[in-house]
Amino acid sequence: MAEVLSFNKLGGKADIYAELLPQIEALLVAESDLIANQANIAAVLHQAFGFHWVGFYRVQKDEVVLGPFQGPLACTRIAKGKGVCGSAWQQSATIVVPDVDQFPGHIACSSLSRSEIVVPYFDRNGEVAGVLDVDSEYPDAFSAIDQLWLEKIAALLT
Ligand code: SME
Repeated sequence: MAEVLSFNKLGGKADIYAELLPQIEALLVAESDLIANQANIAAVLHQAFGFHWVGFYRVQKDEVVLGPFQGPLACTRIAKGKGVCGSAWQQSATIVVPDVDQFPGHIACSSLSRSEIVVPYFDRNGEVAGVLDVDSEYPDAFSAIDQLWLEKIAALLT
């Protein structure tokens, strides 16, 4: 198992994601426990990019419940259709929010978050099993590059 993360800190975002993906795959191949794997994915993304908050919410009945994360204290339960997380779940699609103040119903777990991306992951039946939520203290921090690579990472959880 790769116990030390290796990536070129001077690389561009896409380069760093490309270096991280096989290391995340190696971690997941070596471990079948979902919580352990989500914990390590959150740690890898937080360490590599220094995001304000990185974590998972897992579908449980009619709400998502906080899972493994790195960053400040967060709200624990979000109903389907509520906030960015509940909306990404309802739409079964990634949502990129360049400015959280412009997203109706955004749930501000941290007043420092200025932009965010929420990527669903799916079970084997194609139903949303949870979401990966990444928040930044900078506006407009997430692009199509983040979407592409975070979707690849989230897909590893199916
Ligand atoms: N902002 C999210 C809530 C989760 S926290 O950001 C960690 C939302 O609107 O769903």
